[in-house]
Amino acid sequence: MKSEEIAEIVSQMTLEEKASLCSGKDFWHTKDIRRLGIREIMMADGPNGLRKQEGACDHLGVNESVEAVCFPTGSALGASFDRELLQNVGDILGNECRAESVAILLGPGVNMKRSPLCGRNFEYFSEDPYLASELAAAEIQGVQAHHIGCCIKHFLANNQEQFRMSISSEVDERTLREIYLGAFENAVKKGKPWSVMSSYNRINGEYVADSRKFLTEILREEWGFEGAVITDWGGVSDRILGLRAGLDLEMPSSYGVNDKRITEAVKSGELEIEILDEAIRRILKLITDFEEGKEKNAVFDREKDHLAAGEIAAQCAVLLKNEGILPLHDTQTVAFIGQYAFAPRYQGGGSSHINSFKVDSAFEILRGNPNVKFVQGYCDEDESQSGMLREEALQTASESDAAVIFAGLPDNYEIEGQDRTHMKMPEQQIRLIEEVARVNSNVAVVLHNGSPIEMPWLDKVNAVLEMYLGGEGCGRAACDLLYGKTNPSGRLAETFPMKLEDNPSYLYYHRGRDKAEYREGIYVGYRYYDTKNIPVLFPFGHGLSYTNFAYSNLGLSEKRITDMDLLDVTVDVCNTGSLPGKEVVLLFVAPPDTGTINRPAKELKEFSKVELKPGESRSVKFTLSKRAFAYYEESIHDWYVEKGKYRILICKSAQEVLLEGELEVYPEKEVTEVFDLTTPIGIILKDPVGQQVLGELMAAKKPRTGAGRDRPGEKDNGKMLEAMTAQLPLRALLSFRDMGIGHAKLQQIIDKINLMRSDKCVK
Ligand code: BGC
Repeated sequence: MKSEEIAEIVSQMTLEEKASLCSGKDFWHTKDIRRLGIREIMMADGPNGLRKQEGACDHLGVNESVEAVCFPTGSALGASFDRELLQNVGDILGNECRAESVAILLGPGVNMKRSPLCGRNFEYFSEDPYLASELAAAEIQGVQAHHIGCCIKHFLANNQEQFRMSISSEVDERTLREIYLGAFENAVKKGKPWSVMSSYNRINGEYVADSRKFLTEILREEWGFEGAVITDWGGVSDRILGLRAGLDLEMPSSYGVNDKRITEAVKSGELEIEILDEAIRRILKLITDFEEGKEKNAVFDREKDHLAAGEIAAQCAVLLKNEGILPLHDTQTVAFIGQYAFAPRYQGGGSSHINSFKVDSAFEILRGNPNVKFVQGYCDEDESQSGMLREEALQTASESDAAVIFAGLPDNYEIEGQDRTHMKMPEQQIRLIEEVARVNSNVAVVLHNGSPIEMPWLDKVNAVLEMYLGGEGCGRAACDLLYGKTNPSGRLAETFPMKLEDNPSYLYYHRGRDKAEYREGIYVGYRYYDTKNIPVLFPFGHGLSYTNFAYSNLGLSEKRITDMDLLDVTVDVCNTGSLPGKEVVLLFVAPPDTGTINRPAKELKEFSKVELKPGESRSVKFTLSKRAFAYYEESIHDWYVEKGKYRILICKSAQEVLLEGELEVYPEKEVTEVFDLTTPIGIILKDPVGQQVLGELMAAKKPRTGAGRDRPGEKDNGKMLEAMTAQLPLRALLSFRDMGIGHAKLQQIIDKINLMRSDKCVK
């Protein structure tokens, strides 16, 4: 519907009707206004399937929803590093929504994985903002092609479940920009979601739901977001402040309370009607955009989507370790051990929980295979059985050529509303793995978990296949990967630290009820481990294949560019093994060694996934722009490229650089520091103008600082004094009486220096 038609409807609405449209009719619907032909629309979770609740609705998905297909959760999808795959997932979900008349899918979730403990990490893609944002954009495009809206969530800095509805995330501006806003930026700019979900938490004391800075200035004015902002369920702080800030729709219903509040606020002059009209226009647009796609005939073919879910899961799994035992051979006898071989753990708990159409388990897939035996091994629900189940498993493992243990985290470890307190697997599973490894020397572990775990048993097993929470088709996917029908191609979108204490947020996470202090700043995930050289269990980007790839011919289109130019990077990738496979090509940028800014050792700036037959070679091309080299400079509230030599790194993981090239980048408009009386003399003398004016003056007046002169018997003393002089603030020259410079004169000198440099000065 055109904006004029929407404006026409708005002009016919009474104040009460407008106020009523600003909140839900019930848990999932907007209100309808029959008199004006305004229909209600339905929303549903998200993100990894359709949780359409009919009848009694509840907050956390306890009540049954319509049977649907459960796709791999965010952490698995993140590990695909595959935009096309995400677009395909979106396409399937969009079609399902259309068939079920759901207008808005509440997802994807792009929050950063600040700590491995966050209870909802399984719903999120990555610890890297660029990766998360790009994958989200692709999924959004897939969904929205069906005239179904996405509601990307949870905006912003919502990185823990504990006290999620009240905690204040205390984050500095640069960290917000580079990490937490970064996860949403391209998703919004490229994906153009119909809606954004404001998170429950506060940021630096202010509720996101009340924040004009985030909901209007950044989201709309800077990023060009044209959709509606919807509250997280029950996430309104002050309804009037919220409307003023750019918060359009309150969900679910406030049962008339806030409708009345809005009406009164307009009548009393507390809220301008224009602001309310703007929110109404955005909400009406959601409704009319959905209506426009209504002619599309969609069918929810659960069987077909179930098969797709399995294929997608296989593209997401990460082969973490393989000392030659995978793929398995049909002729080998194999003990399949573990409760999750019968009932995989394939999704998390809470609002994303899908009432799954059917679930493939390894047992279902391989039960007819005479070479495979299944034993339960452990029971999450009843540890008292562990001894007996372990004995049975050891017996079967000792009689088999190989053993595959399905392990990971039980259901209640990863749920909405609660964070983990440790990264450990249940003790009975650890013991099972260790003991099986003692009786069989060919052991593979298949993992079902939504976030990193510690693996004290890693050295004792030969292979580890990380399935994450791979959705309802993950049993088939795991079998296909184990037997080599599919070649693993996933890569970790997050670091697996050795232990929880190594994580950069460890000292600050869960340390307060009122404030969550993000003191690790921009050093999230690999940005920290890599820069600090901290050994990790598996680095960001890690993932093995059954084939090999060789990289060559790294080419940069330029050797020197300004921050306004583009740089093309090309690299050849060849499948040198004997199986077809997919390779994720990772491009990181490392900042100049000469830089004065505190920056991570390298950051992911591009990625691509290519499919290659044995012997096939492909040239992969990336185009980098300013952002690939920039950091967020707080003093100018903008992105800035420090001049210097940047390295382009083509990597296998964050810890393995394969090829590297270098180029010089310089800003078209250089930020120049304004000097004052407190600026160290050494800094002023390093500047050409400063050297010319102050250097000459000091040479002429020769203050007796002693710099440059050694005292007898004290070698290098002059150097020391020179260094000490360089540290002196300019005003210290006032105390060198032999220079004869007073305060007014010194101020004139520094003003002159600043003026001479001012044509370049933007700060
Ligand atoms: C969650 C959202 C979810 C909403 C509706 C909230 O508690 O935080 O992610 O979309 O409920 O179920």
